[in-house]
Amino acid sequence: MTDFGNYVRWFRSSSPYIHAHRGKTFVVMFGGEALLDPAFPHLIHDIALLHGLGIRLVLVHGLRPQIEMRLNDKGIVCRYHPNGLRITDARALECVKEAAGVARVEIEALFSLGVAESPMAGLRLSTTSGNFVLAKPVGVVDGIDLQHTGEVRGVKSEAIHAQLDTGSIVVLSPLGYSPTGEVFNLRAEEIATAVAGALKADKLLILTESPCQVQNTSKTLPHLTDNEATELLAQGAFAPDIADHVRAAVSATGQGVDRVHLIDRHIDGALLLELFTREGVGTLISAAPFEQLRPARLEDIAGILELIEPLEQEGILVKRPREKLEMEIGDFIVIERDGLVIGCAALHPFPQQHTGELACLALHPEYRGQQRGLRLLNHIENQARQLGLKSLFLLTTRTTHWFLEKGFQLTDFASLPLQRRQCLNYKRNSKVLIKWLT
Ligand SMILES: CC(C)(COP(=O)(O)OP(=O)(O)OC[C@H]1O[C@@H](n2cnc3c(N)ncnc32)[C@H](O)[C@@H]1OP(=O)(O)O)[C@@H](O)C(=O)NCCC(=O)NCCS
Repeated sequence: MTDFGNYVRWFRSSSPYIHAHRGKTFVVMFGGEALLDPAFPHLIHDIALLHGLGIRLVLVHGLRPQIEMRLNDKGIVCRYHPNGLRITDARALECVKEAAGVARVEIEALFSLGVAESPMAGLRLSTTSGNFVLAKPVGVVDGIDLQHTGEVRGVKSEAIHAQLDTGSIVVLSPLGYSPTGEVFNLRAEEIATAVAGALKADKLLILTESPCQVQNTSKTLPHLTDNEATELLAQGAFAPDIADHVRAAVSATGQGVDRVHLIDRHIDGALLLELFTREGVGTLISAAPFEQLRPARLEDIAGILELIEPLEQEGILVKRPREKLEMEIGDFIVIERDGLVIGCAALHPFPQQHTGELACLALHPEYRGQQRGLRLLNHIENQARQLGLKSLFLLTTRTTHWFLEKGFQLTDFASLPLQRRQCLNYKRNSKVLIKWLT
């Protein structure tokens, strides 16, 4: 029974994320090393689960070890430019094409698994690959011709979206095609960032070979703004492979991708833990701060309703129809964390009486007890001061002591503005509290 209890609690706690991710577009990138890992089928199962939860997915895979193995088998010496790019001559390009073909077939085979007792039982998943990435040659750099090594010239985003609309998972290899009909070897990360940017993806998830940590430390960085990431890059804080990923993340945010996650793929279920748990296991890099208090927008209404409905059912908050919320959205502030509304409050001003009502203060249960309630209250108080209000009042049934501790005093209904008294529900027997703003 205890296990059932834990299971139900866990499932419920992931529900806000399930709702938040449905219909969103994620680009997932992993290196060729992941493909060689015996645990790779588990990653595919997790990706299939994301697809089942309504997430639109583009996968971009690398091929570095596969290409190197092929070059070695053929006795071809692998040559790199001092800037780290592979010099892809004609024979190397053959190896790239072969490796890409094999990798795609293997990925397609894994997505086709649907036998009973397997995690993908009954699924009939389709994957699509194609000439979605346009490339041009890098050319001659410092006197060295990189030959068939290319860079992204464009992305056929509409064609990719059309495939996603049909329910396919789009799989992209590190190849690009030029209008002259040539094939180029590209860096998987460059494709992933360009595709995420072109699709206006909601997230880019980069599965890494090691956690995103500052060198000589053992703590995975939970989140960074792109400015913080750029600063750490300038300080040389990261190991070279992580620095490459962080650079890609910063480039993606610059191309309009809101959130880039660097996730150590060696953690079992890393993708699921990152996407469906409160703290996640990876590093989020975003242009906006990870958590921010800001004015509410119409798009926040669903999130606000999800937050307040359970409290309305318990009688802690007054029932507020959606239409009323839409009309009053300008009075609301929210705390947004990784795209989820986790807290809200409203200030309804009564300017003629120089007072305002604090309403609808609520935090998601998992985020209480860390002074976010106080942050919302302080913000509303400051807003009220800026509007020249002299006092803030509120009605509450169960939270009186919290407000008393924050400097509110009990008062009576008579001290409320007449307009407010006219629409009071006296049956709630609420307490009235007031705070004089100094
Ligand atoms: C009230 C609420 C906004 C506080 O948010 P929060 O971020 O947890 O608040 P803080 O971290 O600043 O304060 C937490 C403290 O308040 C206490 N507290 C929480 N709810 C309380 C209540 N109803 N009465 C008295 N104290 C309360 C906690 O026990 C904690 O005390 P501690 O620090 O001594 O352990 C939040 O608990 C909530 O959303 N409650 C449900 C909705 C609600 O009651 N809203 C007010 C409607 S008028």
